[in-house]
Amino acid sequence: MFSRIVGTGSYLPPACVSNADLIARGVDTSDEWIVTRTGIRTRYLAEPGQTSSDLAFEASRRALEMAGVSADSVDLIIVATSTPDFIFPSAACLVQARLGNRGAAAFDVQAVCCGFVYALAIAEKFILSGSHRRALVIGAEVFSRILDWNDRATCVLFGDGAGAVLLEASDAPGILSVALHADGSQHRILSVPGNICGGQVTGDPFLRMDGQAVFKFAVRALAEVGQECCKAANIGVEDIDWLIPHQANIRIIDATARKMGIPPEKVVVTVAEHGNTSAASVPLALDLAVRDGRIGRGQKVMLEGVGGGFTWGAALLEF
Ligand code: UT7
Repeated sequence: MFSRIVGTGSYLPPACVSNADLIARGVDTSDEWIVTRTGIRTRYLAEPGQTSSDLAFEASRRALEMAGVSADSVDLIIVATSTPDFIFPSAACLVQARLGNRGAAAFDVQAVCCGFVYALAIAEKFILSGSHRRALVIGAEVFSRILDWNDRATCVLFGDGAGAVLLEASDAPGILSVALHADGSQHRILSVPGNICGGQVTGDPFLRMDGQAVFKFAVRALAEVGQECCKAANIGVEDIDWLIPHQANIRIIDATARKMGIPPEKVVVTVAEHGNTSAASVPLALDLAVRDGRIGRGQKVMLEGVGGGFTWGAALLEF
């Protein structure tokens, strides 16, 4: 018994914002700095009323459409997000209502930029246990809402978006191995440290980051967890057809691939166009490469996430 991806979908909000647009809006930066340090040229930002569940709904609809199945046949919905619409109910319950599904288990997972890999691993375990058969696994974020637009070291890096997969019980191979990790002692290097108290946000409500510490941690964690997943599935790194790492920075992506011994032509890269969409980045990149024909059935794909917590993980699948 396996769990297998039978549909993918994604959604980007309509406003495409270039580096020049950010400068025009008053951010003290340059296109040259952003491109050379991160590889980012554009990002998509949600409209004022657009929420994570809105983006997640659109991505889910497309994944269901690709799979050719109806929303009411789904029995598990997991949304990975650090920017849910509300404190509660979960974004997953809101997506369920929009899809017209009744009765599926629905909940959110919060593992920041590694959230989608965590959610996929959880859905896989539900399916392998036999308790559920068809899961929508979604990564959706509106990080633009938690950015300090006066902090040029962070506000140029992130964008909004959503990606989704439909995962089903299957006799044919799908997910071959997963590995998840966290190190909470590193929580200070990437966080939104505000609290809610008495109906008010107290403390700092914006994303704060020690960029260089995150950079170093990310490269080591992504390379190690990828190798761990290959070992668990008993395959060599050279058997991987596509690597889809979290899309935070082209230098992190290149260094990870180099460390793992994966050539650049086998790496899916969307960071230039999307920026860092946190939990949405991996499913967004997966959907893009499936729809443009790069990823085909039978190919081996390694998905990797790393983010606040600190959290990191990988899933190796035969597509
Ligand atoms: O999902 C995980 C989330 N986060 C990440 O993956 C981020 C990981 N870290 C990084 O990607 C990089 O550390 C950054 C892109 C954030 C920064 O690159 P860096 O090469 O580590 O630069 P730095 O922080 O050492 O800053 C170098 C200089 C500083 O100026 P001084 O002190 O050398 O004069 C900054 O003030 O660049 C300056 N700087 C900027 N200049 C123009 C910082 N941000 C900007 C900016 N535009 N947007």
